[in-house]
Amino acid sequence: LNNYESFSGVSPQAHIGVFDSGIGGLTVLRALRERLPQENFVYLGDTARLPYGTKSAASVVRYSVQAAQTLNQFRIKCLVVACNTASALALDSLRQTLAPLPVIGVVEPGAEAGCRASRSGRIAVIATEGTVRGGAYEHAIRARRPEAHIVTRACSLFVALAEEGLVSGSIASAIAHHYLDDAFNLASLQRPDTLVLGCTHFPVLIDPLREVVGDDVTIVDSARTASITVEATLREKELLNANGGSMQLLATDSRERFARVGSVFLQEPMQAADVQLVDLG
Ligand code: DGL
Repeated sequence: LNNYESFSGVSPQAHIGVFDSGIGGLTVLRALRERLPQENFVYLGDTARLPYGTKSAASVVRYSVQAAQTLNQFRIKCLVVACNTASALALDSLRQTLAPLPVIGVVEPGAEAGCRASRSGRIAVIATEGTVRGGAYEHAIRARRPEAHIVTRACSLFVALAEEGLVSGSIASAIAHHYLDDAFNLASLQRPDTLVLGCTHFPVLIDPLREVVGDDVTIVDSARTASITVEATLREKELLNANGGSMQLLATDSRERFARVGSVFLQEPMQAADVQLVDLG
């Protein structure tokens, strides 16, 4: 047993727990599996209570803690909070709930990716209402680039579009224009040069987003950077797995819907039978 193992009782074979309010976090799971193919994953989407992005902070904390407790019953060695809203509002509570297990959110990795990509320091962040209200992105970006000029926009309808699988076409495009035109229809020196997708549902909307912001804006999300953080954290604790490779999917509502829409996010075929229904009580 290494030090961490004897201290916490977890082993490298335990799962990496991944949690989101729905299926958006599958974009993070995809990046995690690409980077760490030998790991065992258990993913929980709280589809019965989605969206979190329009709920109060107290509800988001309560739901997130229940989800983490459920995932903990599946023998996890760390938790990835693959939901920006839960990362922005519930990270401290989740760390307390699961201590000493590491809990990794996606806001810090998203901010890191945005700061690295931006040359001008003009950074736009799109997220849910809850994430924007909490100011977590501003805080995380300012900690890295105090001079940054940050524009944030709550784009709640994007979550519905993504969940509906309406990821391209005229409706998606009209909504993208509605949310982003005023932030990007500016003289070139004032325009953001980077757009951070501060919601794990948004990467599937890359086509309409690209159409609105144009080719000269760098679009980043937290998935890849978060997977690097997870790898570094597990390596430091000597908890990387070299012999796994499994994936378990849990949802709190319709397995059929999860499989149908989830396959767009995971970019892999998925059947309802691959998804297990759980009750968070
Ligand atoms: N996946 C959530 C996030 O990243 C958005 C969906 C929701 O509102 O629950 O913030």
